[in-house]
Amino acid sequence: MTHMTEQTLVKEAPVKPHLPDAQTVTEVKHYTDRLFSFRCTRPETMRFRSGEFVMIGLMGDPDEKTGKVKPLLRAYSIASPSWDEELEFYSIKVQDGPLTSKLQHIQPGDEIIMRPKPVGTLVHDALIPGKRLWFFATGTGFAPFASLLREPQTYEDYDEVIITHTCREVGELTYGRDLIESLKTDELLNDVIGEGFWKKIKYYPTTTREESPKMGRITDLMRSGEAFTDLGVPQINPETDRAMVCGNLAFNLEIKEMLEGYGLEEGANSKPAQYVVEKAFLD
Ligand SMILES: Cc1cc2nc3c(=O)[nH]c(=O)nc-3n(C[C@H](O)[C@H](O)[C@H](O)COP(=O)(O)OP(=O)(O)OC[C@H]3O[C@@H](n4cnc5c(N)ncnc54)[C@H](O)[C@@H]3O)c2cc1C
Ligand SMILES: NC(=O)c1ccc[n+]([C@@H]2O[C@H](COP(=O)([O-])OP(=O)(O)OC[C@H]3O[C@@H](n4cnc5c(N)ncnc54)[C@H](OP(=O)(O)O)[C@@H]3O)[C@@H](O)[C@H]2O)c1
Repeated sequence: MTHMTEQTLVKEAPVKPHLPDAQTVTEVKHYTDRLFSFRCTRPETMRFRSGEFVMIGLMGDPDEKTGKVKPLLRAYSIASPSWDEELEFYSIKVQDGPLTSKLQHIQPGDEIIMRPKPVGTLVHDALIPGKRLWFFATGTGFAPFASLLREPQTYEDYDEVIITHTCREVGELTYGRDLIESLKTDELLNDVIGEGFWKKIKYYPTTTREESPKMGRITDLMRSGEAFTDLGVPQINPETDRAMVCGNLAFNLEIKEMLEGYGLEEGANSKPAQYVVEKAFLD
């Protein structure tokens, strides 16, 4: 019988397959049984504009016939700002979701796949200048705004930034609430953008299915005028107001119609205008 040397031990240790376009997870935080955020390394050459999304994922299960494994990728908004040396994502956990049933179990040190080709319409370049910027989010639609709220240009371009976040339950607001609170003590941002830059932010969280200080869908609260009264601002108008929208399809369509009703026109990268929209998830 041969003795196990240190060398054979190293050789026989299970080797993790190296993923294509792999990035290493550095931090994971769970908020509810349906929501978590994580941070990972950023490729040195990767550039993006705050508010854009990328394709991320894991290797799928082996094909039953061929045994081959393919990457399982989904669109994800980058929640960190363009200047951050790491990347942050804010994710749903769909219990039978092909990707998130697995992704929810990642730990620091694990690898994820990230295709470094960011795209998207929720970018400053797609809006023409204005005074007040509205971010309208439901659920994980907060993610691109987590990036834009930490982007210096947001405060250079606007006098006021209003972020509305509508969720079913109170716990689903935690990620956004903590992030906005953290801006007050963020030394780097207060240095770079200007001390007290965060005073430009008006945060308007609402819930629809659990008791909280402000209940109701943001759409209904705007229609009744309650949201404008609460925020102490006039109704949205095309001279001063610009908007970015990220939520489920029905929400996006409803807000779009309302913004058009206030006289705002939809913009795009190729044709900047007064508001832009992106889906927080398909269907
Ligand atoms: C442009 C774009 C950006 C996106 N950014 C994010 C992001 O930043 N964070 C994120 O968690 N997801 C985001 N998504 C959704 C994401 O691509 C996946 O759908 C999600 O990760 C679930 O993947 P899955 O394979 O587990 O389930 P899927 O098969 O993709 O989805 C299963 C079902 O779960 C529901 N669902 C999917 N995503 C969500 C969600 N985010 N919130 C609530 N219900 C959902 C839908 O009903 C969907 O039919 C984005 C989608 C698009 C199109
Ligand atoms: N959140 C949960 O606790 C939960 C639990 C299990 C499964 N799910 C499933 O997961 C999926 C996504 O759920 P989700 O809660 O993340 O996202 P969601 O259904 O998009 O709801 C997020 C928030 O947006 C509001 N909203 C929906 N449509 C709107 C519209 N047209 N105008 C204005 N506001 C609107 C919702 O209010 P309303 O409440 O009034 O719709 C809710 O407060 C759903 O298919 C759901 O069945 C959710």
